[in-house]
Amino acid sequence: MKMGKKIEKIFVKTYGCQMNVFDSERIEDSLSNFGIRKVKEPQWSDLILLNTCHIREKAAEKVYSELGRFKKIKRENPGIKIGVIGCVAQAEGQEIMQRSKIVDMVLGPQVYHRLPDIIQKIQNGERVVDTEFPLEDKFEKLPQSKQVNRPSTSFLTVQEGCDKFCSFCVVPYTRGAETSRSPEVIVREAMELVESGVRELTLLGQNVNAYQAQRKSGELLDLAGLIEEICVIEDLKRLRFVTSHPKDMTDDLILLFGKEKKLMPYLHLPIQSGSDSVLKKMNRGHTVKSYIETIEKLRYLRPDIAISGDFIVGFPGETEEDFSLTLDLCDRIKYAQAYSFKYSPRAGTPAYERDDLPEGVKTKRLTKLQEKLKIHQKEFQRNLVETVQEVLIEKCGKFSDQYIGRSPYMNPVVVASPRNIIGKIIKIKILSSNGLTLSGETIG
Ligand code: 5AD
Ligand code: SF4
Repeated sequence: MKMGKKIEKIFVKTYGCQMNVFDSERIEDSLSNFGIRKVKEPQWSDLILLNTCHIREKAAEKVYSELGRFKKIKRENPGIKIGVIGCVAQAEGQEIMQRSKIVDMVLGPQVYHRLPDIIQKIQNGERVVDTEFPLEDKFEKLPQSKQVNRPSTSFLTVQEGCDKFCSFCVVPYTRGAETSRSPEVIVREAMELVESGVRELTLLGQNVNAYQAQRKSGELLDLAGLIEEICVIEDLKRLRFVTSHPKDMTDDLILLFGKEKKLMPYLHLPIQSGSDSVLKKMNRGHTVKSYIETIEKLRYLRPDIAISGDFIVGFPGETEEDFSLTLDLCDRIKYAQAYSFKYSPRAGTPAYERDDLPEGVKTKRLTKLQEKLKIHQKEFQRNLVETVQEVLIEKCGKFSDQYIGRSPYMNPVVVASPRNIIGKIIKIKILSSNGLTLSGETIG
């Protein structure tokens, strides 16, 4: 078998959601156990990985144009290997190999633990496609390196995949069915992260609140139970979880916001539309009323809770009336943060063929919605001015002596300090808001 250049340096470019960010970090971290270190520029690497996202727009086209750029790098450094991983890899598979001769591997999101073996193969000149959905836990088999000083905040994947099949969404096809990681493994990883300096954890899952796993003892555990267990870790100060589905907001989970002090008062709870008729066509499995009731319960228990959401405008059949109901809902909820998108037809999803609204209508509605969301977001920020917030300091700012952290509500906060305060939770009086960022001064 012909032996190629040994792969010792890796460059990973990541698109898409926090799950992809987590996967990429875990891959880099884990490969360091095999003597492969990450580098900051693709041309310095022996292996370039493109971790792709398929959720909206011309995802596959973006990948091919990115590959065009890597082709130039490969021309100058012919030894470099190239891999496409993530959701476009899952969706397109072999097709990518056929369209782009420079690609050496195509891996779906569930097989990253096979990377050390696959790297051996591509080193020896093979081209590998693997888009299986194996049963094993990829993260357990992709061990984290020890003795690394980690940042003060970290993601931790607890759940993957989706069984909801919203009619617009590719996730159930690219990430597969809902699976939950074992609670014992999650708690052990959480403890290791906290030991290495992490003070805030964000539990990740495409449908994180659908988390459902069995303890070794056979007892079933849901997300509320898992959170209670993780919050026992003493040096862990803050916990968040994302992304939740309105249908899976159990009363136990809602009640936790009223009693678990480490659970931060922030919840990302996408609704997508304020019209029941659109929600039905989207196959969301909840109504506007049930969504509002959930928020009301949360606000009763935790009046300061910040709500964040996702919206799609221009879904097939969405009328002006439907759209105005979305605007009304925003006025009612007053989101502290929100993400909004034009409907993007995805091949293979039930709504694909139905795309029927002109681009101009979608654009107009998106602009209108975003204007409204921005007003509420700014208002939320402005209401924090003159208050004292506990801010977890995450990193240095642009200027010397400047630090950036996050409020309990996820707002970035800038503060000056003569000593290094990274990793600490500091009381800060908020003095101003510039729309997206807050600034303040330390007190006490
Ligand atoms: N078109 C537009 N937006 C989409 N999303 C998911 N699929 C699509 C699509 N086909 C949005 C939803 C989801 C977020 C992650 O991306 O709002 O909550
Ligand atoms: Fe996609 Fe709906 Fe599943 Fe969210 S709940 S990942 S939007 S199918």
